[in-house]
Amino acid sequence: MSLARLPIRGSGFGPRNVARFGGLVGDAPGLGLDVAVVTTERAKHFYNPCDVPVTLYSDTDEWELWKCRSDPVLHIDLRRWADLMVVAPLDANTLGKVASGICDNLLTCVIRAWDRAKPLLFCPAMNTAMWEHPVTAQNVEQLKGFGYTEVPCVAKKLACGDEGLGAMAEVWTILRKVKEILLERDLLLQS
Ligand SMILES: Cc1cc2nc3c(=O)[nH]c(=O)nc-3n(C[C@H](O)[C@H](O)[C@H](O)COP(=O)(O)O)c2cc1C
Repeated sequence: MSLARLPIRGSGFGPRNVARFGGLVGDAPGLGLDVAVVTTERAKHFYNPCDVPVTLYSDTDEWELWKCRSDPVLHIDLRRWADLMVVAPLDANTLGKVASGICDNLLTCVIRAWDRAKPLLFCPAMNTAMWEHPVTAQNVEQLKGFGYTEVPCVAKKLACGDEGLGAMAEVWTILRKVKEILLERDLLLQS
């Protein structure tokens, strides 16, 4: 079985998404995938790093690894190492940053340096009011224009109590899409 390497963005908003995020990372090795997680500092607020069963990278690692010229630059190493990237959940803030090219943390640097010949999937997740703001559709179109694949959000009761569009796609939907793309590109051998 070939190993597909896949950094998944680690983040979650509220206990339900933490469990769903765990499902996403936890199910990936079953597909023969070698997974690493890149987290933002804000996202750390929503889960316990001990619950992440794979290597977890954050901004501290980026800066601690590099001291002088011959040292590795983590965001470049990760963009080389990975065959596919999933940004799940993609919040409104990071969506806006990616759409406009901002790269001020490890996650956005990996995305900015991403080899666009390789697949990048993004799974938006935000409050319905944020989702309905016109800038969101513009940002999503921008990302699709870069060649990235949207795994659309769904309507349901959100963690904040509102009901409507904005919830992250189900984990099985994301995994199905990942598997489909990896098979298309011959990166995943079915056992
Ligand atoms: C409890 C709580 C839940 C949040 N949920 C979301 C969310 O589901 N989607 C979103 O876009 N922003 C959400 N936010 C706002 C983000 O956390 C905020 O924009 C943050 O700066 C994102 O940082 P990051 O993109 O670096 O991870 C939430 C904030 C809080 C305090």
